[in-house]
Amino acid sequence: MDFKCIFKEGKVYKALLNGEWVESKSAKTESIFSPVDGALVGKVQAMTKEEADLFVKSASNAQKKWATVPVNERADLVHKAADILYKEKEIVADILVEEIAKNKKSSLSEVTRTVDFMHFTAEEGKRVVGESLSSDAFPGFGKGKVSIVSRVPLGVVLAISPFNYPVNLSASKIAPALVAGNAVVFKPPTQGSISGLYLAQVFCEAGLPAGVLNAITGQGRDIGDYLVSHSGINMIAFTGSSKVGKHISKIAGMIPLLLELGGKDAAIVLEDADLESTSKEIVSGAFSYSGQRCTAVKRVLVQDSVADKLIEILIPMVKKLKVGRPKDDADITPLISTSAADYVQELIDDAINKKAKLLIGNKREKNLIYPTVFDNVSVDMRLAWEEPFGPVLPIMRVKNEGEAIKIANDSEYGLQSSVFTRNIDRAFEISSQLEVGTVQINSKTERGPDHFPFIGVKSSGMGTQGIRYSIEAMSRSKAVVINLK
Ligand code: NAP
Ligand code: G3P
Repeated sequence: MDFKCIFKEGKVYKALLNGEWVESKSAKTESIFSPVDGALVGKVQAMTKEEADLFVKSASNAQKKWATVPVNERADLVHKAADILYKEKEIVADILVEEIAKNKKSSLSEVTRTVDFMHFTAEEGKRVVGESLSSDAFPGFGKGKVSIVSRVPLGVVLAISPFNYPVNLSASKIAPALVAGNAVVFKPPTQGSISGLYLAQVFCEAGLPAGVLNAITGQGRDIGDYLVSHSGINMIAFTGSSKVGKHISKIAGMIPLLLELGGKDAAIVLEDADLESTSKEIVSGAFSYSGQRCTAVKRVLVQDSVADKLIEILIPMVKKLKVGRPKDDADITPLISTSAADYVQELIDDAINKKAKLLIGNKREKNLIYPTVFDNVSVDMRLAWEEPFGPVLPIMRVKNEGEAIKIANDSEYGLQSSVFTRNIDRAFEISSQLEVGTVQINSKTERGPDHFPFIGVKSSGMGTQGIRYSIEAMSRSKAVVINLK
């Protein structure tokens, strides 16, 4: 990459501090190995807690000036970064292929989706405006007061992203934060940090002032708690597991949190559904990126009367999924780690021991798990409730929509659900009863388009993401009251 900002030497990547790419004084690094073949992708800095202070302090200092830069200039910078990312899309996508084993097509689409996200955010940032209120709406005040309410930044946003979208779910925090006038301390996932550093590099190259974006690497378990509870952090935007998200919410204190966490999205299939298109949506929803998506379809709740027919259509589609290497554009690729694959295998074994009917799969080569589908999964099985984050789909047969709603809602999670039916009235009635952030009617569960609100309830999160919603979450109202004589 022909960049001015030098962020790597050989395979050793540096961290971004105050406009400079730096190494840890501890001389410690984290080695990032490819989930595909174990080859070394690169080494990133294992920053210490003492060094973390410098990242926060520098961001805090830089933010004050950044907040005074006109919003159209902040937006221009985000546009410029998006243009650079677009130019470098092949390089960044190739890193994703190696680092997180996402197939090339999906990796490219992650990058171009991020470019679109950044452009849209830059424009939307200019449209987030305040309001003015007159006192005469409230009894007893007459017209004597006017409140001018504007949006102001929060200060320093800590952006923490997960391995499965290390570019997109990082930019979807960084861009709204920056356009709203915040500085950002960005901590990418360790497996995904090289992709994250490429993104930081793009902002550096676009000419972002020193300190406005600092990128710190190191294991979450070593520096995460320290950063999250740091007094210089004014807001946390986190995407990751419910376990870590809940932990953060306990220790973060009184600062705003935006949490996007796990999910166990149900696809509810009613007897009048178009089973052909339903099957397509379910297969794509369950198995894209080998099921490593928070919004993956993670269980099917199908009315018994059409379950056999659904399975008859769905299984041949699963058989067609290509299993193999991400660079060959396989649909099912090795999972992020051996421990992730071990966990998926545990859930499969539990279902088999409890007599679920294996329809396809349960084959494994190291961390590559073949697409697996079970019928007759029941509520006593772990697969009914736990998030595998792998290519395993449990089918649960239900008598009627009431039972489907009950099982869907009995989950600790509340990200999304799908309802497949030709009857729009039934779809709306069921949607109104589902305890989730979003219901998709006749589609797989999914986050995009990215200006839609993205909401997790219960253990699936807190707050609303989506371009305008994220900008609002990363700014606050400030009122100045004019008292008229
Ligand atoms: P994770 O293990 O929770 O890690 C997420 C991020 O948190 C990583 O950057 C990690 O750093 C960091 N971290 C770990 N411990 C921390 C601590 N004590 N304090 C602060 N940060 C800490 O999740 P993951 O395995 O990367 O991602 C998979 C999970 O994310 C799934 O549950 C999935 O459903 C969820 N997810 C949710 C959404 C959504 O939008 N709702 C989207 C994507 C993923 P290290 O990598 O260094 O450990
Ligand atoms: O798991 C990441 C999440 O944000 C899903 O996005 O676009 O795959 O539905 P998407």
